[in-house]
Amino acid sequence: MTARVLVTGGAGYIGSVVADQLLARGYEVVVLDDLSTGHRRAVPAGATFVDGGIGDRAGVTALFARYPVNAIVHMAAVAIVEESVANPEKYRTNNVAASQVLLDVAVAAGVRRFVFSSSCTVYGHPAAVPIVEDAPKSPVSPYGESKLAFERVLGEYAARHHLASVSLRYFNAAGATELRGEDHDPESHLIPNVLGVALGKRPSVDVFGTDYPTPDGTAVRDYIHVDDLADAHVRALDIPPDGAIALNLGTGRGTSVRQVVDAARRVTGHPIPVVDKPRRPGDPPELVAAAQRATAVLGWCPQRSGLDEILASAWRWHRAHPRGYRS
Ligand code: WQD
Repeated sequence: MTARVLVTGGAGYIGSVVADQLLARGYEVVVLDDLSTGHRRAVPAGATFVDGGIGDRAGVTALFARYPVNAIVHMAAVAIVEESVANPEKYRTNNVAASQVLLDVAVAAGVRRFVFSSSCTVYGHPAAVPIVEDAPKSPVSPYGESKLAFERVLGEYAARHHLASVSLRYFNAAGATELRGEDHDPESHLIPNVLGVALGKRPSVDVFGTDYPTPDGTAVRDYIHVDDLADAHVRALDIPPDGAIALNLGTGRGTSVRQVVDAARRVTGHPIPVVDKPRRPGDPPELVAAAQRATAVLGWCPQRSGLDEILASAWRWHRAHPRGYRS
């Protein structure tokens, strides 16, 4: 029997690539997405698409009745840190309460395997870098709080409901595949904003913070290719079921904002003017993953996450889709 997997948020940037990889590896895929931020066109043709919310108990119950699934990759979420500060209720409602509805219906339907899209924001401002999974969790935004809260729910369900779960804590997702890329509105992420300048969408890119305690004064992040991220989800479905675990998904290498801009100049051949700005509130100076646990548990090793490969792949996609999925 072919395994069938439900991918919530499968019309989104990372979810669509997860759906592609699952299909390529022979899984049947059902995508549940309310298209609040995702794109119908990002859902692979081979997947069954259900337009709906994860918190709609009747809708999710009907989905499981129609499409019994063996496992869930749960990626549907609201995910803008700044918005979460302005509207924490929205983050509790969507990322915790609605996720709990999905989880309860899934457990009642007999699903015993759950892969959850978590975030390095659960660590807040880390005391030490690279960040290990057991480092203290002290999120500094309601977004990070919501991810940590649901990880804890999964921990509880492991014992009470024999649910095997893997929480994947993404560092900075970046890059594109041939078919799928990053299309957010508004766009707040560094790499699409940098490439937007090379595409002529805006005259310059802001560099938020030049006085960080880092080698060049700009913030350091661990950029991970979306194809590598997706691969970790597929592997997470394959490991022996064993309680609730959490894994960092990053490369262990830090890259500064200026290094991203310099690499983008190299890759695009465009001068990409920058304007130095004050720090963006809430941004930690440095977020770099200790990634050994994901390698040990999943046998996962990033293959496409060199900076130039990330930028070249994103550049190809943005040039082919200058208006994102509307192109
Ligand atoms: C990277 C660096 C900016 C834009 C957040 C969440 C994380 C994940 C991704 C979701 C920062 C700087 C940015 C720009 C800039 N969220 N920057 N000019 O903030 O590290 O990660 O989004 O699931 O959990 O924390 O990502 O790409 O926004 O910023 O200088 O125009 O680039 O200040 O230092 P971030 P980012």
